[in-house]
Amino acid sequence: MIYIPDAIPVSEDLNLRAARLDDAAELFSLVNKNRMFLRKHLPWLDDTNSVSDETDFIHQQSEKANRMEAMLLLVEYRNEIVGTLSINRIDHGNRTAWIGYWLDEDQCGNGLMTKSAGALIDVLLNGCAFHRIVIEAGVDNLPSRAIPERLGFRKEGVSIEREWLYDHWIDIVQYAITEREWNTGG
Ligand SMILES: CC(C)(COP(=O)(O)OP(=O)(O)OC[C@H]1O[C@@H](n2cnc3c(N)ncnc32)[C@H](O)[C@@H]1OP(=O)(O)O)[C@@H](O)C(=O)NCCC(=O)NCCS
Repeated sequence: MIYIPDAIPVSEDLNLRAARLDDAAELFSLVNKNRMFLRKHLPWLDDTNSVSDETDFIHQQSEKANRMEAMLLLVEYRNEIVGTLSINRIDHGNRTAWIGYWLDEDQCGNGLMTKSAGALIDVLLNGCAFHRIVIEAGVDNLPSRAIPERLGFRKEGVSIEREWLYDHWIDIVQYAITEREWNTGG
């Protein structure tokens, strides 16, 4: 059975930790502040309209974490929640994890997510015996694509009209890296 730690230090003032139910109000307030920014690329904004919705989401994710199916990690910078970095799916048979992320618009442009994703990927591949990490992003979502590209992922391909985004289909580009590639640089 794969075990994933529920707290991962990234740097002196940047940490990842599993979301708790009592984070719901702070997390919802951040989502609400960034609603229009996030809605350009993420499909769930119209289903997140209250602290109660956020509480339900954290509860579902905690249950999935207990079953090791997924994990919702909060990105904390200087002791405040600035975004999330999630393990969205785990394929235990092939030791593969799919990760996704979003950040407070005001905190973008400083490398927080690249550093956070790098720390999580290192723990998954070197501490938790995962073999392969996958990141998927909208073809037009260049800031999101830049993260796997900066971290040395391979572009594996594009799925046409793979995700419904409110009122249209978007194409998704898939990036991946194996434990060998991560540790040897290729
Ligand atoms: C995707 C998203 C998290 C990327 O945020 P970001 O701030 O660009 O990513 P990072 O935090 O890694 O920061 C990278 C930026 O900081 C800069 N930077 C500064 N110091 C850095 C460092 N030490 N390491 C890496 N980058 C650094 C980079 O040059 C880059 O800036 P640039 O875009 O001007 O070149 C953000 O755009 C977002 O939340 N978007 C909406 C939700 C979304 O699309 N999620 C993904 C769905 S697939």
